[in-house]
Amino acid sequence: MDVCCIGIDLGTMFTTAAASNGGRSCIRSEVGFARDAVAKHLIGSSVVLGDLVTQHRQALKIVRPFERNSLKLAITEDQFRSISTEETHESLSAAAELVSYTIDNLSIASGVEQRCVVGIPAGASVYSQRLVLDLVEAVTPYVAVVSEPFAVGFGVGSEANNSIIIDIGAGTVDYCYYYGAFPSEQDQATLGYGGDHVDHELRRGILEAFPDAKVSEAAARRIKERYGSVGDHVKQAVVELPTRDGRSNKFDITDVLRDACTSFANKITNGLAKHISSIDNDDFFIDGAKILLAGGGSQLHGLDEYIGGALSIGDRCDVIRIHDCKYAGAMGALELARKLPDDGWDFLSQFRPQIDQRAA
Ligand SMILES: Nc1ncnc2c1ncn2[C@@H]1O[C@H](COP(=O)(O)OP(=O)(O)OP(=O)(O)O)[C@@H](O)[C@H]1O
Ligand SMILES: [Mg+2]
Repeated sequence: MDVCCIGIDLGTMFTTAAASNGGRSCIRSEVGFARDAVAKHLIGSSVVLGDLVTQHRQALKIVRPFERNSLKLAITEDQFRSISTEETHESLSAAAELVSYTIDNLSIASGVEQRCVVGIPAGASVYSQRLVLDLVEAVTPYVAVVSEPFAVGFGVGSEANNSIIIDIGAGTVDYCYYYGAFPSEQDQATLGYGGDHVDHELRRGILEAFPDAKVSEAAARRIKERYGSVGDHVKQAVVELPTRDGRSNKFDITDVLRDACTSFANKITNGLAKHISSIDNDDFFIDGAKILLAGGGSQLHGLDEYIGGALSIGDRCDVIRIHDCKYAGAMGALELARKLPDDGWDFLSQFRPQIDQRAA
């Protein structure tokens, strides 16, 4: 039977997938549900994804299923049981729509066996892992989950050996010591906040400094992506924002933006220092190792230099942004799905979280 391998990165902001038939998909991790019968009629559907969400934004209730790490990081046993038995859990239904739409987008011919590797946060609880497995298995039968930064390292290949991958996303920052084999628990760590947290803090800071201004978290994110920076090369940020009197005005938010970005960069470096000290591998030492930055947050201006400087490791090991931060997780997961021999799939299935549903 023909086999098509798939790698999926179920991100808080973007859901990205790559398949061995050449199929690629990248959409925002948001699902729009028609607000009422009129909206449903005008849009032609009660649920929309991708570009249609942007097109009909006002007429939709938009759900970001993975925001605030609600499903894929820290689900407890009780939450797992209640979510799995609830018939219409909003985030879970939205996540299911997202997975199904993404796999459809890959245009895999019918009758082809699909083998899918899905990246999840390094520190995902067993219940979150199981939830994601169940979610993807509802669409395609052969599924394994791996930590997202490990998938990134696998995709980079042997160049990633002896490196610490830091995947800086919207919901989490994930660390993984990569050495070309499946990582142990001590080799990985997750901080439960990412770029979304910066957007929230930036919005709060702007409103505190300029009570007349109006700014949404989405607008704060756009400002951060355009002007955000850390370290010595702070960019001046003068932005035009709507004001409470219905007009707009220019605001110099350079200091507020620098503070929000620097506070995030400090959290990343503190997390890295803690991660380095918890690596339980006698062969690891920082000289000659690499720090590889992945995920959309790695594009923050000056972050590579900042990390090297803050931990005084800049002259002892390279801090490098990886190429193509958008598809790196999905491509790594695809490589893993492709290269895994049959016994490799059996190996990964050992890590499948077993949950006794009868104990509910
Ligand atoms: N130039 C930039 N400067 C700072 N942050 C940026 C920049 N470009 C993108 N980002 C941030 O990167 C984050 C999105 O990254 P990514 O697509 O890797 O996240 P994700 O995979 O969806 O989330 P997660 O892995 O946490 O579930 C957003 O917070 C976005 O604002
Ligand atoms: Mg990610």
